[in-house]
Formats: sequence, structure tokens, C-alpha cells
Amino acid sequence: MSTLIRNGTVVTAEKTFAADILIEGDKIKDIAPGIPASGADKVIDATGMLLLPGGIDCHTHLDMPFGGTVSSDDFETGTRAAAFGGTTTLIDFAIQAKGTKMRDALDTWWKKADGRATIDYGLHMIVTDLGEAGLEDLDSLVAEGVASFKLFMAYPGVLMVDDATIFKALSQTAKNGALICMHAENGGVIDVIVKRALAEGKTAPIYHALTRPATAEAEAVHRAIAMAEIAGAPVYIVHLSSEDALNQVREARDRGLPAFAETCPQYLLLSVEDLARPGFEGAKYVFTPPLREKHHPPKLWEGLKNDHLQVVSTDHCPFCFADQKALGKDDFTKIPNGGPGIENRLQLIYHHGVNEGRISVNRFVELVSTTPARLFGLYPRKGVLAAGSDADIVIWDPHADHLISAKTHHMRVDYSMFEGFRVKGNARTVLSRGEVIVDRGNWLSRPGRGAFLKRAARGGAWA
Ligand code: URP
Ligand code: ZN
Ligand code: ZN
Repeated sequence: MSTLIRNGTVVTAEKTFAADILIEGDKIKDIAPGIPASGADKVIDATGMLLLPGGIDCHTHLDMPFGGTVSSDDFETGTRAAAFGGTTTLIDFAIQAKGTKMRDALDTWWKKADGRATIDYGLHMIVTDLGEAGLEDLDSLVAEGVASFKLFMAYPGVLMVDDATIFKALSQTAKNGALICMHAENGGVIDVIVKRALAEGKTAPIYHALTRPATAEAEAVHRAIAMAEIAGAPVYIVHLSSEDALNQVREARDRGLPAFAETCPQYLLLSVEDLARPGFEGAKYVFTPPLREKHHPPKLWEGLKNDHLQVVSTDHCPFCFADQKALGKDDFTKIPNGGPGIENRLQLIYHHGVNEGRISVNRFVELVSTTPARLFGLYPRKGVLAAGSDADIVIWDPHADHLISAKTHHMRVDYSMFEGFRVKGNARTVLSRGEVIVDRGNWLSRPGRGAFLKRAARGGAWA
């Protein structure tokens, strides 16, 4: 089966140019102006459209047990919603249950995805328990294509690991080429502040932010980078939320260290004022790290522009307001942490980034697709439009008007963090490995067609 996409404007991380794209089977065969239509089984006209490499969301939590419940999107509904928004690859997190082997968690997450994923996916492993054997287990997982690990410096007693564990894992990845993803917040300090707040009867959602200061994030980012420096390993800070934390990453990068960081649309577009909404409404915005004061987002946008931040992911971790967020009605610490966003990342970053002049369209592609592919061992199979790459292509309508709303979104969650946001620019047609899976709002894919991606170690960005 061959498909020709004609008359579009190809956008890569480096350049923008008019060209046609010829797809043969599941790969891109050729990119050039004026490819003859004769011989192609199918022709798609992309006049006036941008042709982007499929979005890569390297931070999602589908079907994840957390906070006494399970995130509301599974691998079917979550990957479907991702595709509607122009994301064709995601990297989710398997969680090692304490006292068990990481390999068991990999099997568990494969079962969750099997028969359900509609787009390709990779897995990071969340490490909660690293005995001596665990170091070799890290190597075995890398050999199976799980080339990145998340460690938590927060959530004591649940997911948090100590500095010795972090340092051992970093030292191992210095040898095996994997990338450590760090949830950087000082969990011990936060725990003390949280207990004080509860003792004073402070139970509303806003206290989620007031008990997790930006300094606790910056301190942990600094410590994580210092440990990575001693270990001689790269480190990737996940869901960076504040100027304070950003300064730590920038200083490290200025010193030439392989420190990388992502932020998410919620930290760029929302603020602590959303957490302070009346009644229990603020619970919709309870995720970790918390939303910050309004002076932080402009700094994060500057960080994205100047490459102090390298990636925009979503940290999609949806919980329904009515029956899941409600678990914390009387105690903010019981509100399941996480928010939905897998569908809206490209729309929001294109509109507020490119349309509003904060970043170029090429930087947009780099942030949402190319750099995640490079850092997480998927490049050049994914993250680029080039001959030989997977034909994961978004035909992007830069003029499409779209109103973000829970009434129309495809995520299985009863609210939107971006309710009422009007954006210009949306995915018109989405191809995954040469197959049209979304076209003009119609769903054309099927559960189970998404494949597990074995990712390479040493993504190369720091080599
Ligand atoms: O609140 C959040 N971010 N939930 C998902 C888990 C995590 O820490 O990424
Ligand atoms: Zn985290
Ligand atoms: Zn997360």
C-alpha cells in the first residue's frame, strides 16, 4: 500500500519547505516536491496544511494505580485521545511494586496495553526498590527496550527512594546508557509541612500548592543534578514547574552538564489561582509539582525558547472529578494527584507558542516530537519526517478553530483543565505507520494496532 500526501508544507526541527511525502507500507519512502501521483494507491491533498512528525508524549500514566484509585484513561481510551490531538507515540510508566522484580511490572504493563493501544508506545520503569540485584535488573530492562527509569524524590513511604538508591541507579546508567527521569521535590520537607497544615485544619485543595514550595523543587533539582554529575550520568527532570527549578537546570547546562528537563502545558498556561477556585473546584488542578504563581509561566516559555527546557510532555494522569478527585473532599492529601491533557498538548503549544510568537514552528516540532525521540532512543525511527522513518505524520490545519471542552474531548474524564480555551491550529488527519487513524474528527483505527517500542539506550543527545 502506498500513499502520497501532496501539496503540504513539511516542518521539521530544522526547516520548513514545500514538498510531497510518499509512503510505502509503514515507512516514508520519499520527501520531495512534485512526486508524481501515478503509482500511489491513495492520494491525500494537504494544500494549506503543515506536515509534522507525529507528536511524542514521553510522560503519560494510563491505567495507573495511584492515590487509592486508578487513572481513568486506559491504553485504549488514552491512546485514542492522544491520536485525536496529533500524538502518535507515547511513553508510559510501569511501576515496580515494592519487594517485587521490575520485570514483573513490565509484564503487567504489557498486559494493560496489549489489545488496547491504538498507537505505538514505549515504557519507562518507575524504580521503587533497588537491592544489589536491582542494578543488574536495570541492565536487563535496557536490553528489553526499557531504556529509561523514573525515580521519585517525593512521596515518602510510597514511591520515594533515598539518595543512595538514586546515586546507585545514576551510576549504573552511566554504564548502560539509560536515562534517569527524576521527580524532583524534597519529599521529606514537604511531608513535614503537609502534616503541620493538616494539624491546623487546612484541608482545602489550595493547600496542595501551599505545602509544596518551589524551593523544595529547586533543591531537589539541584541535588539530582549534583548526584548525576558525580555519577557521570545524564539526568532528565520531569514535569518542571517553577522558575527556581529552571534556574538550576540552566546553570547546570551552562556548565556543560547533560541535564535535560521537560515542562507541561499546565505549568505554561495555568496558575495557583486555578487551585484556589471556589469550593472543591481546585481539586481538578491537584497534581505534583503544583501550579505556581503567575510569574513562573513566562520564565518557562523563555526556557523553552532558549533550550534551557527541551521537551513539552503532558504528565497525563486523569482522575474523574465526580468520583475520584472527590476522595479528597475533606483532606487535600487524599485528592488523587494528576490531571488530563494527552489530547491537547499540540493544540495548546502551537496556539500559545507559535501563534502567539513565543517559539518558532520548528522549535514547536522539536519540543513535542524530535527531542523526545532523540532523548528516549526512538530517533530516527520516530520524531522526524525523513525517508526510512516510520510514516507517523500529522496533517496539521494551522487555521482550524477549536474550543477545548470536556463536552467534546476524547479523554475518559469528566472535566478539562483547559475548559473554554479557544485555539487555532489542530490535527486534521493523523497517520500512524502509514495508516490514517484520524481524519477530520473521525476515528479510523482499532485497539491493539499500537506496538511496543523497544528503545535504544544512549539516546544520543548527550553523546
Ligand atoms: O501529580 C502527578 N504528577 N501525578 C502523576 C505522577 C507523577 O508524579 O508524575
Ligand atoms: Zn512525577
Ligand atoms: Zn507523571
